[in-house]
Amino acid sequence: MARRRRTQDRFGKQARQDGYPARSVYKLQEIDRRTQVLKKGLRVLDLGAFPGSWTMFAAKRVGPKGRVLGFDLTPFEGVLPPHAEIRQGDAFAISLEELGEDPFDLVMSDMAPATTGQKSLDQYRSYELVMRALAIAEEVLVPGGAFIAKIFQGGEFPDAKKAVKAAFDEVRVIKPEAVRAESYEVFLVGRGFKGRSTTDD
Ligand SMILES: C[S@@+](CC[C@H](N)C(=O)[O-])C[C@H]1O[C@@H](n2cnc3c(N)ncnc32)[C@H](O)[C@@H]1O
Repeated sequence: MARRRRTQDRFGKQARQDGYPARSVYKLQEIDRRTQVLKKGLRVLDLGAFPGSWTMFAAKRVGPKGRVLGFDLTPFEGVLPPHAEIRQGDAFAISLEELGEDPFDLVMSDMAPATTGQKSLDQYRSYELVMRALAIAEEVLVPGGAFIAKIFQGGEFPDAKKAVKAAFDEVRVIKPEAVRAESYEVFLVGRGFKGRSTTDD
C-alpha cells in the first residue's frame, strides 16, 4: 500500500513537471500505451474534459491534422493548440448539431459525478454518465472507431460492460496505475465500433 501511495505522489509531481493540469493524464497515457487508440490525424471527442489534461495529451498524439473537441460542465479558460477546444456543456444536453457533421474516430469520457459518499448512488450516476457517453458515441463514431469511459465499479458495471460489448468488436477493462489505490474506478475500452444500428423502417 505504501508503495502504491508513493507511486500516486509521483504522478502528481510528474504532471506538474510535464505541464499538465491534472494527474489523470497518466491514466489516458497508460490506456493509450496498452491499446494504441490515439493516432495521428484522428478526430477525438472528449467528454468531461476539464481541466484539460486528456484534451492536451490527445491533441499531442493526434497532431495538427487531427482534432480534439472537449465538453465539460465547468468552463475552461486555459490555452490549447488550435486543433483542440473545450466547450462548456452538459453531456446530457449536447445536441448532434453542436458536434458538427464530421464523425469522430474516438469518443472518450473521463466524466465523474459529484460524489455523495453514498457508494451505490455514486456508482449509479457514474453508470448513467457512461451510458450517455456510449449513446453519443453510437451517434458520432465512424465504423471501426473506439471508446474509452471511466466507470465506478459496482452494481451496474456488468450492464455497462455488456452495452459496450454489444457496440464494439472488443472490450477491455483497464485500471491504470495512476488510479488512486482507494478508488474503485476502472475504464471500459471498446475497439472496433460495429456501426450505427439501423432501426429506421
Ligand atoms: C475527472 S474530471 C476530468 C479530468 C480531465 N479528463 C483531465 O484529464 O483534465 C471529471 C469531469 O467530468 C465533468 N462532468 C461530470 N458530469 C458531466 C456532464 N454531465 N457533462 C459534462 N461534463 C461532466 C466534471 O465537471 C469534471 O470536470
